Amino acid sequence: MKILVTGGAGFIGSHTLIELYRAGHSAVVVDNLYNSDPEALKRVAEIIRVDEIPFVKADIRDREALEEVFAAHRFDACIHFAGLKAVGESVAKPLEYYENNMNGTFVLLDVMRKHGCKNIIFSSSATVYGDPAIIPITEECPKGHCTNPYGQTKSMLEQVMMDLQKADPEWNVVLLRYFNPIGAHPSGRIGENPNGIPNNLMPYITQVAIGRREKLNVFGNDYPTPDGTGVRDYIHVVDLATAHVAALQAIDRKQGLAIYNIGTGHGYSVLDVVKTFVKVNGVEVPYEIKERRAGDIATCYCDPAKAAKELGWKAQYGLEEMCRDSWNWQKNNPNGYQS
Ligand code: NAD
Ligand code: WQD
Repeated sequence: MKILVTGGAGFIGSHTLIELYRAGHSAVVVDNLYNSDPEALKRVAEIIRVDEIPFVKADIRDREALEEVFAAHRFDACIHFAGLKAVGESVAKPLEYYENNMNGTFVLLDVMRKHGCKNIIFSSSATVYGDPAIIPITEECPKGHCTNPYGQTKSMLEQVMMDLQKADPEWNVVLLRYFNPIGAHPSGRIGENPNGIPNNLMPYITQVAIGRREKLNVFGNDYPTPDGTGVRDYIHVVDLATAHVAALQAIDRKQGLAIYNIGTGHGYSVLDVVKTFVKVNGVEVPYEIKERRAGDIATCYCDPAKAAKELGWKAQYGLEEMCRDSWNWQKNNPNGYQS
């Protein structure tokens, strides 16, 4: 299939491009490079041994630019990664987050419809479950209260696409609810490249290990979990990437609306991650226990059985490989793509 990949220069998009090409698909990337570096696309091309990945630098809110892309290509489907994703920043800049994520998706869906491309895979998030009512979380678990504008945009955009599919059953909409993506491509050539102080656990750990930060702050050790620290379902980004290739099957089968949790089904605490990282990589990660972080929940991991049953997709990598590959990327690229 020929796939439009919005946000394809970013962390998950760049890894997904590799798996798409490996599976015989082709792609055109549209990204405004707000949170990414075009070097990532060069390295993807190098990994999959093609001259270049077709790329248009454009904002998905720019209707004219999108129209031009659709006029030049006939897409079978869109994988829609483009969006702003920093939870804390979304609390400080709600209007920017709502405007970018909502408007961007509205323009994209409208232009897709106009050009007869009614197949979309959307990057949703476990955040839509809020403080989950059931653990492990199945797709039937009711959506919960999102504590931040970023999460609200994911939840609302899911609803927008469900309503669109209901109104026009020609649409095939696959909502992938990612759990906590970490790791990097095993080549060490592409990986997560956060700007400024990382919000997420793994990039913070790797920056402590490389000496860019003094110590990790562990946010709370009084949660009702085995060691008191927060438990999450970490998933290797390469597994997450292959889930998108598998999700194309739901489009191929004209499944209409399909929703899948994309995680491993295993919950690991913050200290499990730190200890595994230290053991696997033989480096030090000093840490200090701090107050809980506002808006955090105790435990979040999924039941990935639905994706296994319907898409034949299952995560292959464990926590050790996630820690190994995150470190491999960081130590080979201490300053990200500008190294
Ligand atoms: P990322 O920031 O690395 O990638 C997103 C890309 O979208 C960036 O390259 C950015 O430049 C681009 N972009 C943003 N707004 C745009 C716009 N208006 N027009 C064109 N391009 C635009 O983030 P990621 O971690 O790769 O996440 C990809 C998607 O997955 C996002 O939608 C994110 O919300 C979602 N998601 C991420 C996680 C996670 O923990 N990384 C978890 C769940 C869901
Ligand atoms: C994991 C655990 C923290 C940093 C977020 C978004 C979610 C999704 C994935 C996009 C928690 C603890 C963290 C640190 C710490 N993104 N922690 N010290 O919060 O589960 O999910 O990213 O959709 O929407 O909310 O991920 O990596 O920030 O935190 O102790 O410096 O690590 O308290 O228990 P989270 P995270």
